[in-house]
Amino acid sequence: MTASSKLIEEREKRTEWFRKDRFGMFIHWGLYAIPARGEWIRKDENITVEEYQTYFDEFNPVHYNPREWAKAAKQAGMKYAVLTAKHHDGFCLFDSKLTDYKATRTKAGKDLVREFLDAFREEGLKVGLYYSLIDWHHQDYPAYGDDFHPMRANEAFQRDPDNFSRYVDYMHGQVRELITNYGKLDIMWFDFSYGEMSGEKWRATELISMIREIQPHIVIDNRLESNSHVSSIYTDNPTLYSGDFASPEQTIPPGGLTRKDGVPIPWEACVTLNNNWGYAAADHNYKSQTTVIRKLVECVSKNGNLLLNVGPDAKGLIPKASLDILAEVGEWMSLNSDSIYGCGASSLPKPDWGRYTQRGNTLYAHVFEESIGAISFPGLAGKVKHARLLSDGSELQISQPWNTADYTSAAFVNFAKPEHFSYPLPDPRNTVIKLELIEPN
Ligand code: GLC
Repeated sequence: MTASSKLIEEREKRTEWFRKDRFGMFIHWGLYAIPARGEWIRKDENITVEEYQTYFDEFNPVHYNPREWAKAAKQAGMKYAVLTAKHHDGFCLFDSKLTDYKATRTKAGKDLVREFLDAFREEGLKVGLYYSLIDWHHQDYPAYGDDFHPMRANEAFQRDPDNFSRYVDYMHGQVRELITNYGKLDIMWFDFSYGEMSGEKWRATELISMIREIQPHIVIDNRLESNSHVSSIYTDNPTLYSGDFASPEQTIPPGGLTRKDGVPIPWEACVTLNNNWGYAAADHNYKSQTTVIRKLVECVSKNGNLLLNVGPDAKGLIPKASLDILAEVGEWMSLNSDSIYGCGASSLPKPDWGRYTQRGNTLYAHVFEESIGAISFPGLAGKVKHARLLSDGSELQISQPWNTADYTSAAFVNFAKPEHFSYPLPDPRNTVIKLELIEPN
């Protein structure tokens, strides 16, 4: 076995649970919840560390109750959650011994990461931490001339590149703290590499080796190497730091994600509920519950996961609009999650009326669009043992009504008799028909 095939085999084993769980919660939270204009505010508004200090001095999330967050995630049908332990602003939600720029030095006065991990584990969810490779607070991180630093245009912030290694030592030290001091973590979510700031600039091989030595099972994203298709995870010769899954952002890859030779790779689309990761008080542009349900199905139908984001406010509360959507999605998941967990793509082409997900001989038809007469299943004539409405287990009619007699290669299913009638979808958001196939197609 070559080193590359061993690495790929280990990746497949590590991500087995990840590729079954399919649905997670992303949580972006920190000082930026106070200005409430998103987590890039320091860069967008060229805010200095001194100006940003006012938020550090003020941060006091009196309503922080991660158990409530965990219950909302669990009720939504989410199986794992990833919290920002440190975002680009460098503020640490955990009690790092390497800096005073942390929650335990604010009025919060506690290790917010530890409480998050305890709460989500108690609700039975797997847990992950997001850690920003970028750090706009650290004095040795490139500033003047950087692509994104808030002081990128300020010549007073020229930094000696020889000192960058001190930042990398700091970054490695903090990752070691997270991997060592907070129990079993299931995911490490790094963000993000850009230009020359990628791969061995972060001393990625050393970092991954350290992580794998302490927590060999942990699933890691691909952003140590790249956010884009440059990442060697798409090849049959991945680097040690290519990651265990690709991380498309605010989009669902048109055909899913595979290696150049067509072999599927694990991937997870990270998506916001409105248009911001961090709390943005004025952003009321929320996706509907139907969109979220159908996009989760689209990810699974393409062998991918959905990491759906919430941005709690400065007091520690997830916005009501987000909670309402999660509750509705959870209601659908409570009746239909068999068509999500442990499922993946079908070899059948995408049908006109919606999407397929599949697990072994069980094919799930996600019907988004009403049919005129019976619902057609091209290519499945004679291949379906029986059909049930997933939500209530009721028997559905498999037949070839007189008006479909010309389409002999297709199977036809309807919700009631007579089978040639048109019936409304039991769930207009997404009606799931469970088809037991005589053999996997
Ligand atoms: C982008 C954003 C960052 C966010 C991440 C989530 O990298 O810059 O703020 O945390 O997407 O994937």
